[in-house]
Amino acid sequence: MIEQDPHAIARPPRLSRLRDFVGALADAIERIDGEQALLAQGAGLLAQLVAHDDWLPTDCAVPSPKTYQQYLLHCDSRQRFSIASFVWGPGQSTPIHDHGTWGLIGMLRGSEVAQNYALDDAGIPRPVGPVLRLKPGEVETLSPATGDIHQVRNHYDDRPSISIHVYGANIGAVTRTVYGLDGSTKPFISGYSSATLPNIWDLSKEDS
Ligand code: FE2
Repeated sequence: MIEQDPHAIARPPRLSRLRDFVGALADAIERIDGEQALLAQGAGLLAQLVAHDDWLPTDCAVPSPKTYQQYLLHCDSRQRFSIASFVWGPGQSTPIHDHGTWGLIGMLRGSEVAQNYALDDAGIPRPVGPVLRLKPGEVETLSPATGDIHQVRNHYDDRPSISIHVYGANIGAVTRTVYGLDGSTKPFISGYSSATLPNIWDLSKEDS
């Protein structure tokens, strides 16, 4: 067993990675016309962010035994995009739901599993395509143009998983839909699990 050095000082989270991602994504949104081109660019930027697991503050990585958590990491001042850490407790799952806007999912820790759905003529959600498993460092894209109804769950029953979600809106404030297997629908607004944000703007506490 490796013993921890009691004199070791925990490194602060490297929030500069998140700040750089926020800036680069805002720049891409400003420059790029067309959702598919933006998703391609955004996926590359998110892949850079989740290539390292040294920047997410610990209080944005806490699972709840009740349900999965969505900690807001940043919301664009014009609400053009938002970034959240999605923290799964063991075995936790979403209902079948949509987003109504483009989305990017980057796996940071653990693993999650997603199944896409499409509504049949009776409005019943039917699985479309294979079950997709995301592993650390991998990125998935979602678009209403190609169908954005899905169900996602933690791949693991015995440990938490964390993915970074990016959406083309202030997602916690968007009225979305949950789909029942009987064809029923229910509107929902997810909100966020956290009341405060990581402070990505205080450069005085960072290593040079
Ligand atoms: Fe989703």
